[in-house]
Amino acid sequence: MSTYKNLKEHIEEGILTITINRPDKLNALNSQTMSELKDCIEKAYDDDEVKGIIITGAENKAFVAGADIREFSELNEVNGRKFSERGQEVFDIIENCHKPIVAVVNGYALGGGCELALACHMRIGSKNAFFGQPEVTLGIIPGYGGTQRLTQLIGKGKALEMMMTGEMIGAEEARSLGLLNHLEVTKEEAMEKAKEILQKIFKNAPLAVGMVIGCVNAVFSKEEDGFQIEANSFASCCKSKDFKEGVAAFLEKRKPQFKGE
Ligand code: COA
Repeated sequence: MSTYKNLKEHIEEGILTITINRPDKLNALNSQTMSELKDCIEKAYDDDEVKGIIITGAENKAFVAGADIREFSELNEVNGRKFSERGQEVFDIIENCHKPIVAVVNGYALGGGCELALACHMRIGSKNAFFGQPEVTLGIIPGYGGTQRLTQLIGKGKALEMMMTGEMIGAEEARSLGLLNHLEVTKEEAMEKAKEILQKIFKNAPLAVGMVIGCVNAVFSKEEDGFQIEANSFASCCKSKDFKEGVAAFLEKRKPQFKGE
């Protein structure tokens, strides 16, 4: 496992928990944290020990309170574009990971923090979770994919309201909008729920799970035909050993032993 300055890693029962660890700055994503996050997720792609990932924030006040505003004073038109594209790249790696990634949201998920949660495949919150895209209050817009992913997830009207007012919404409203998959009381309970869901997923064929992620992401792609991707992915599943094992196990009335092959 790597040693990062701003991330903590912990692996247990196939789940890699990545904790954004800058609590004195409400876990704000500075450029070093973004580089570390990219490195950490890329390593997890190929690590057979990692079957799924939880991303959360250190302590209880914030998941992530945004990109680090202290770095904003250096931004101009040229490096601002790079800043946005770099953030989009890191969050695309999260969204396209073939292993399930769950955000456990405690406290503030603002700006880049909300966008980080949106890039994950699911979001589980505690009662003190707050979501917001306050970029317009600073004179910018969400630049790490938020204008796209928030709209995909909660619909145009409410997404526009959140992004144009810059106001936060609480956990109950986030749950009712589908921004949160599940709402628990405490952060600890949210972590337990995330682990419970991941363990259910781990019982299933890993190749098929990864293909579900790819097909669902294709719904929102302009270049790809999602139905074509679905048919191709279905065909790939049909040639896998796990498919044969899944069908055999059903017919033999036993639990399948999937190997990801
Ligand atoms: N970037 C850099 N530092 C941040 C930050 C961010 N996005 N969010 C919080 N911090 C820092 C504060 O500057 C402060 O650091 P300091 O003690 O060295 O001054 C520390 O985290 C604690 O934050 P503070 O503002 O004192 O806490 P609060 O409880 O009064 O307010 C928030 C909490 C979340 C409402 C407030 O911090 C905030 O509005 N943050 C910015 C949110 C934002 O606009 N994010 C989107 C950026 S595009």
